[in-house]
Amino acid sequence: MKTRKPMVAGNWKMNKTPTEARDLIRGLLPELKDVEAVDVVVCPPFVCLGVASVELAGSKIALGAQNLHWQASGAYTGEISAGMLKELCQYVIIGHSERRAMFGETDESVNKKVLAALAAGLKPIVCVGETFDENQAGKTAEVVGRMVWEGLKNLDAEQAALIVVAYEPVWAIGTGLAATPEGANSVHKDVIRPILREMFGAEVGDGMRILYGGSVTAANAAELFAQSDIDGGLIGGASLKVESFTAIVKAAL
Ligand code: PGA
Repeated sequence: MKTRKPMVAGNWKMNKTPTEARDLIRGLLPELKDVEAVDVVVCPPFVCLGVASVELAGSKIALGAQNLHWQASGAYTGEISAGMLKELCQYVIIGHSERRAMFGETDESVNKKVLAALAAGLKPIVCVGETFDENQAGKTAEVVGRMVWEGLKNLDAEQAALIVVAYEPVWAIGTGLAATPEGANSVHKDVIRPILREMFGAEVGDGMRILYGGSVTAANAAELFAQSDIDGGLIGGASLKVESFTAIVKAAL
């Protein structure tokens, strides 16, 4: 029996205008209005957060951003702070592999962002995952382990309890090639979970949710979510349509 409440979060990436975001949310709301047993989160682009927060007010669907800057304010042209997001969202994705690969994010910047998000009262969804080459070289545990240790350092147990970890093997993102349920579960259970227990104590470590992300679809979600340590999913492509996202949320019930 799983005691952790499942979560399904949609990472819309750089998709949807504010108008399109409003329409997608209006499509999701009636489909998901009775879902209580899964925490549902949508993470649209920054410019859609205002309209999304209005549309989602009073609903059970939570709102998240896809990034933030660790400084509270100041001369950082083009950046968005945790305090700005806090007026609109509850969650923020941090350290997605696309940000690590294309925008120079490091374990160090991830950690600063995690601390800034927590200080502002946002709940971080922290992404970790190995590349194809690292996977083939047998380095998954080493790479993923380092990302967890470094990304979540200097947090106390109370803060850690608010963190959601997303294991997203880079080779599975947007490729249609999801990890096998057993393969992903073994990273969650044998690599990430023991580190969380070591860092924050057994009780907090066992309570933290570890999502799987990377080519989750309506067809493979149920089998992934049935694994002992896969506590839901971070969904990219399939979160952009009402039907597929709804089906994935329901697979977590
Ligand atoms: P995907 O993306 O579901 O399109 O593979 C997942 C993610 O990058 O969060």
